[in-house]
Amino acid sequence: MAHIVGAVTTSHVPAIGKAIAKGLQSEPYWKPFFDGFINVREWLKDARPDVVVVLYNDHGLNFFLDKMPTFAVGAAPTYTNADEGWGIPTIPAFSGEQALSWHLIEHLVEQEFDLTTCQEMLVDHAFTLPMALLWPEQNWPVKVVPVCINTVQFPLPSAKRCWKLGEQIGQAVRAWDSDARVMFLGTGGLSHQLEGERAGFINKDFDLAFMDSLTTNPQWATQWNSAELVEKAGTQGIELLMWLATRAALGDGAREVHRNYHIPISNTASGVMVMEPAA
Ligand code: DHB
Ligand code: FE
Repeated sequence: MAHIVGAVTTSHVPAIGKAIAKGLQSEPYWKPFFDGFINVREWLKDARPDVVVVLYNDHGLNFFLDKMPTFAVGAAPTYTNADEGWGIPTIPAFSGEQALSWHLIEHLVEQEFDLTTCQEMLVDHAFTLPMALLWPEQNWPVKVVPVCINTVQFPLPSAKRCWKLGEQIGQAVRAWDSDARVMFLGTGGLSHQLEGERAGFINKDFDLAFMDSLTTNPQWATQWNSAELVEKAGTQGIELLMWLATRAALGDGAREVHRNYHIPISNTASGVMVMEPAA
């Protein structure tokens, strides 16, 4: 059976891509953010994942507002990025772990999740930047399975539904007949709002309480509906749903190994956490 080594959850602001391309990691603006990943990469050396299941939200590169699946899972042999309009250099392609993709799709459909299955799929900054933060050489020593959750066009799946999705992803991986070491990577958040009267909205108290809750009371955020979560975390802060699903995939108990929280990166409260299954 596959072995779950742990999870990383992180923000995914597009400006990170520009900072990497220009080599700005040690600039005063960027250093508190990039330094938060030193311990994550140390942890990766011990965790040694073979496969990463990436839970993220596409922002218009692969899915646009005309066709927006609530949940989509990639089953492609390779995944590439493309210019999202910022002129950021594209990065090497990712190799798909197709056996796990199909195992996951079959398990999730069996568990009554109605998925969109993607045998071709572009992956946007929410996928590529967290991968580049974990593996700055961009040599991708892992295979990947993308899992997309709609957090960009209402109606969104509820926090409760995302928790259940994550639980089933975890169960599927644990039941996968493979000796692979599997990691979860959840991207998005933390609090931010890019548009409207509340543009620039950040809620540090809520973010820190949410990070704490993932190990102390992990279903805490499921008490709120999407509108309430938007009120607390901002219209894009609701990307915290990916953190929630990722935590659920770890199983009953989890312990925190590392965290960093820094305000702001662009318009976003940036956070990163490493968690391991408790048992
Ligand atoms: C920003 C944050 C995001 O999560 C995103 O997808 C795009 C932009 C920002 O803070 O600029
Ligand atoms: Fe985003």
